[in-house]
Amino acid sequence: MSAEALARFAKTLNGLQRRARLRSVAMGSGIDFASNDYLGLANSARLKQAITTAIDRGVPVGAGGSRLLRGNHLEHEMLEEEAARFFGAEKVIYFANGYAANAALFSTLPQRDDLIVYDDLIHASAREGIRASKATTSAVPHNEVGAFERAIRSWRELGGKGVPWIGVESLYSMDGDKAPLRELAELAHRNEGFLVVDEAHATGVFGPDGRGLAAELGVKTNILTLHTCGKALGAAGALLGGPKIMVDYLVNRARNFIYSTAPSPLMAAAVREALQILVDESSRRTRLERLTAYAGCQMQSRLAKKPSGSQILPVIVGDSGRAVSIAREMQAEGFDVRAVRPPTVPEGTARLRISITLNVDEEKIEAMFTRLSATLQGNAS
Ligand SMILES: Cc1ncc(COP(=O)(O)O)c(C=O)c1O
Repeated sequence: MSAEALARFAKTLNGLQRRARLRSVAMGSGIDFASNDYLGLANSARLKQAITTAIDRGVPVGAGGSRLLRGNHLEHEMLEEEAARFFGAEKVIYFANGYAANAALFSTLPQRDDLIVYDDLIHASAREGIRASKATTSAVPHNEVGAFERAIRSWRELGGKGVPWIGVESLYSMDGDKAPLRELAELAHRNEGFLVVDEAHATGVFGPDGRGLAAELGVKTNILTLHTCGKALGAAGALLGGPKIMVDYLVNRARNFIYSTAPSPLMAAAVREALQILVDESSRRTRLERLTAYAGCQMQSRLAKKPSGSQILPVIVGDSGRAVSIAREMQAEGFDVRAVRPPTVPEGTARLRISITLNVDEEKIEAMFTRLSATLQGNAS
């Protein structure tokens, strides 16, 4: 290997370092204000027991192949049936993770003649699918229903003949605000299009029994929902729900479903238990709601910043270097607070992404905001 071949990578990494954008993986340590384990299920006795019980009844660790070959297990099928009942979808398909599910959905379902109009802040995994799609694509400003409408109208005026697909997150992962789902569902309906709702951060937290924000729209034949299982559900994978015909189409056409080893059947058993926990232990949701409200008040009073109204509380600091140094100081004080920088978030909006989970309590929240207030003042721009 020539030195020049490796130097190309070093050059890029050095450039990222100079702009305070170098990423590296770091162990979680300190009090959790960074995970998506909103309901504190990842380390729960019930999920662990679900895995142990599944092992005892002979469920294998590995699937052993693609779902379309030898990798399909009863655990996958039981989970999909249970999830379809729970989320009120005609059919559900279980993917290994949300990234793969979003990539599969957007790259496979919208056809060449169609339009994908999506929110500017949509997750990287949806963008991955959108980039690979043969449809016309258009990004519109965050949460502006009028902009979605105009994009569809101008595509039609230019001769667009297919079907419009509206892509949004129900609760935005880096801002913690909600999408205007009802208006978007009406817009999709009026235009004989589809609404795709990524519920990654709402599943388990919002909606009846934690079924997500789209659950409040009722069952519709033109709505697809994606429920990731690695966040509030404390496990891994993603449950994509929608009309049976579309799920069947994905099974036949989605390359990252067809050409990939199925998720561990043990994980499917854990996710099924997590859905049951959502029903049995509604107190987790109520407790999270209380902690979120408490954290919102702390944010308002100690930082004079308006809270998002959800368990995701961004504190925007702007400059990447400043965000990183504040996060480091917080970590040194025992609070696991992380900086999120461009290109994950828009230019000039580097932030601390504070998440509230059942892994903390009021006392820890107050201590964190007290410390953060002092740290922000010490790092004034
Ligand atoms: C909005 C959103 N969609 C999809 C994903 C991907 O899900 P997973 O972590 O299961 O791959 C994430 C994860 O960060 C997310 O925040």
